[in-house]
Amino acid sequence: MTLRAVVESVGHYLPERIVPNSHFEATLDTSDEWIRTRSGIERRRFAAEGETTSDLAIAAAKAALDHAGLTPGEIDGIIVATSTPDLTFPSVATMVQNGLGMQHGFAFDVQAVCAGFIYALATANAMLISGQSRRMIVIGAETFSRIMDWEDRSTCVLFGDGAGAVILAAQEGTGQNSDRGILAADLNSDGRYREMLYVDGGVSTDGRAGKLRMQGNPLFRQAVDKLASTAITVLQKAGLANDEVDWIVPHQANIRIIAGTARKMNISMDRVIVTVQDHGNTSAASIPLALSVGVETGRIKRGDLILSEAIGGGLAWGSVIFRW
Ligand code: UT7
Repeated sequence: MTLRAVVESVGHYLPERIVPNSHFEATLDTSDEWIRTRSGIERRRFAAEGETTSDLAIAAAKAALDHAGLTPGEIDGIIVATSTPDLTFPSVATMVQNGLGMQHGFAFDVQAVCAGFIYALATANAMLISGQSRRMIVIGAETFSRIMDWEDRSTCVLFGDGAGAVILAAQEGTGQNSDRGILAADLNSDGRYREMLYVDGGVSTDGRAGKLRMQGNPLFRQAVDKLASTAITVLQKAGLANDEVDWIVPHQANIRIIAGTARKMNISMDRVIVTVQDHGNTSAASIPLALSVGVETGRIKRGDLILSEAIGGGLAWGSVIFRW
């Protein structure tokens, strides 16, 4: 018997406030045209004052539970991927646990910045197929608006807030790559690239939350190479070929990175779920948000083969291939 971590449902939550590119034209030397053509972003959501990452995560988790017709009592583990927690500790995941009224099971956060959801999926997969858990909620939730330097036009126009959640359950498979569920994962990191994307404050340095700093152009070049390479590796690990992939559901940082990666993989853009125009870069939330939109719009269907890949601060990057 082979246990597989199978996605039972997906859900998301976006803050109400929609911020169009034109919002930035008033205070910065930028334009809607620059932001659209360089990144593909048209708008993003910003959390309301007092609205925290755990609020977003709880709403996304509730949506996923509703869609699956499950209650919190049927969940035994929660992982939240985030780099923008409400507090230094406790974890956002324990806040979600409490918000769902759960007094059982376990909950913890994973921090791999924009690759966080991929790391969280790989971790949940390991726990489910080893029998340590039977059903988990895996959430990507971020409020990157809280760590923007509003005077830095090269970063503050790119990011947004949101949350997405999937419910994964351990189910019996055949061991073949025709099974539903996670078929392979590939995780990588290289701390030598720390300066490319980081936050300039923290608990054991200056005690501040800090602001995001990014060397966009060099990171762009690293991103396309590393994303294509991890995608090819994960396909090899699963014994699958490019043309078997129904959907790429990538991290949504920049439409040019998404298109460049798809091109390197020889996969056409009509097999890619793109939400960057509406959400901006929501870091660890971007993949579950895109999965949720893909299902809501009727594109992703049961049995589809999905490849998700992401890269972010660290650098940390990776991919997961799964059958919906
Ligand atoms: O999620 C984690 C992973 N994140 C990424 O992978 C992001 C990777 N990087 C990118 O997406 C792109 O590099 C950016 C969207 C950040 C920038 O696009 P680019 O084509 O690499 O532009 P650039 O950084 O080379 O800048 C081109 C020009 C510069 O002006 P000069 O030096 O040519 O005069 C910038 O100062 O664009 C200028 N610029 C802007 N102009 C108007 C930078 N930001 C802006 C702006 N509005 N908001």
